[in-house]
Amino acid sequence: MAKLKLDKTKWGWWQSAVFYQIYPKSFLDTNGDGVGDLKGIISKLDYLENLGIDGIWMSPVCASPQVDNGYDISDYCAIDPMFGTLEDMDTLIAEAKKRGISIILDLVLNHCSEQHQWFQEALKGRDNPYHDYFIWRDGEPDCPPNEMRATFGGSAWTYVPELKQWYFHQFAVEQPDLNWENPEMRRELYQTIRFWVDRGVEGFRLDVIDQIGKDADKQITNNGPRLHEYLRELSAEAFKEEGLVSVGEAWGADTERAKLYSAPDASELSMVFQFEHICLDQEPGKDKWDTIPLSLPKLKQCYDRWQRELHGKGWNSLFLNNHDLPRTVSRWGNDGKYRVESAKMLATMLHGMEGTPYIFQGEELGMTNIRLDIQQHVDIETLNVYKERLEQGYDPEEVMASIHARSRDNARTPMQWTAGEKAGFTTGKAWMPLNPNHTEINAEAALADPDSVFHYYRKLIELRKSKDVFRSGSFTLLCPEDENIFAYTRDTEKEHLLVVCNFTDKTLPFDAPENFRGAEMILSNYNDGCSELLPYEAVMLYYEDVE
Ligand code: GLC
Ligand code: CA
Repeated sequence: MAKLKLDKTKWGWWQSAVFYQIYPKSFLDTNGDGVGDLKGIISKLDYLENLGIDGIWMSPVCASPQVDNGYDISDYCAIDPMFGTLEDMDTLIAEAKKRGISIILDLVLNHCSEQHQWFQEALKGRDNPYHDYFIWRDGEPDCPPNEMRATFGGSAWTYVPELKQWYFHQFAVEQPDLNWENPEMRRELYQTIRFWVDRGVEGFRLDVIDQIGKDADKQITNNGPRLHEYLRELSAEAFKEEGLVSVGEAWGADTERAKLYSAPDASELSMVFQFEHICLDQEPGKDKWDTIPLSLPKLKQCYDRWQRELHGKGWNSLFLNNHDLPRTVSRWGNDGKYRVESAKMLATMLHGMEGTPYIFQGEELGMTNIRLDIQQHVDIETLNVYKERLEQGYDPEEVMASIHARSRDNARTPMQWTAGEKAGFTTGKAWMPLNPNHTEINAEAALADPDSVFHYYRKLIELRKSKDVFRSGSFTLLCPEDENIFAYTRDTEKEHLLVVCNFTDKTLPFDAPENFRGAEMILSNYNDGCSELLPYEAVMLYYEDVE
């Protein structure tokens, strides 16, 4: 089957595209050291072309001491030897391009590694030209400038006795924040972006970009006063290349901000990657470790608002999984009896909407969460929360329950390629535990089964490119108060799409709106009608007006 290829010279091509996120460490290892590498990605490009995706967002592969798995970069223009060489990267870009796949790099511009030469220079003294590339406050030991907490636990300030100064880090101690107020620092960052564009990279995902305008004295991290000014400069200086796609990770974005980030005049970024829907099953005002059951009406209200408010005014990303989130099939689906059905249902709900879908590696197989002992965990955030909560007197079992539900390690277990030993991921010892269910859930089995989650995603991706209603149709939510069914329509002047999803393991009655009687069923995870919805059933109906 010939893949529909997008014309990437046209502005906005990414609105019809589907992206695939690779977490390189866990994708495929080709030299037996237990860590995925660039050669592993190259060898699976045919698999990805078969799936039908248009671009790959790769989590960071730049030189890094790996305190936060590469989100602590020590050289923005070098490939970490663990992943391969610059030459491998050139090969990957060229081989991907041949298959109509763009490479999108992860840019971590909010902070770098303490091993970065800039920080090493900065430590040499207050007069060093690189000192001001970071955020410092004078002070005495034991008395940090303020109460700000780091995302991975502890104070956001670390003291350097030799300088009698504190430096700011929103994440780990080893990830000092860059000082965006320094124009020289910004200029150097733009140069590193040009370095990758010149090598053929076609876009960037911008890590925690909503934090670059921070005001540490006022304890403001997200949405700081100069944020959008910096974004406009960044866009003008580094992304002006035609067709370059830019995706901003913004935990703090609401719909108003999202319209600024992704305004159609391209003054800032192509699209926003926001998390409002993801945070609905955590206790308001608390953090993600305090989970509550998902309310479907709330989820629907949230999507409804984003869909309607951004229509024609901005552009959103569509995702339920990434390397920081547990697997959705375990979170909002059913990873037991209805694993396959619910994985397909969640994908249908998402891919029918307006925005650019992102598939996180293994999602196309319906990969699930894993249950690890604390000693088997590797993620810095998980290990820190365990320690911190135990110190605060939490019950260890309760802490482990929320780690099993929420830890980022759930997403990071190695890709399950085969049922064989080590899941075909490595010939050595995998850097983190493999999910034992790879004997059942793996790519080899999925490719051979026409009813697999993989082939369903392939159809979804193909559909998206074959009908304009997916890109430009207006969104209307049906039955907003229904606690079990998520249904909506998308309409252009001529095309009409109905998406219906059963979020439960029960059979439920459903009446399609009048105008969809007799419409064509273009997708279903059971291959039957939709007068009755079977457990986790999902259907798409479609018709066009006749002149
Ligand atoms: C982003 C990344 C996450 C990382 C953090 C700090 O949220 O997605 O993995 O730990 O930024 O860079
Ligand atoms: Ca390797």
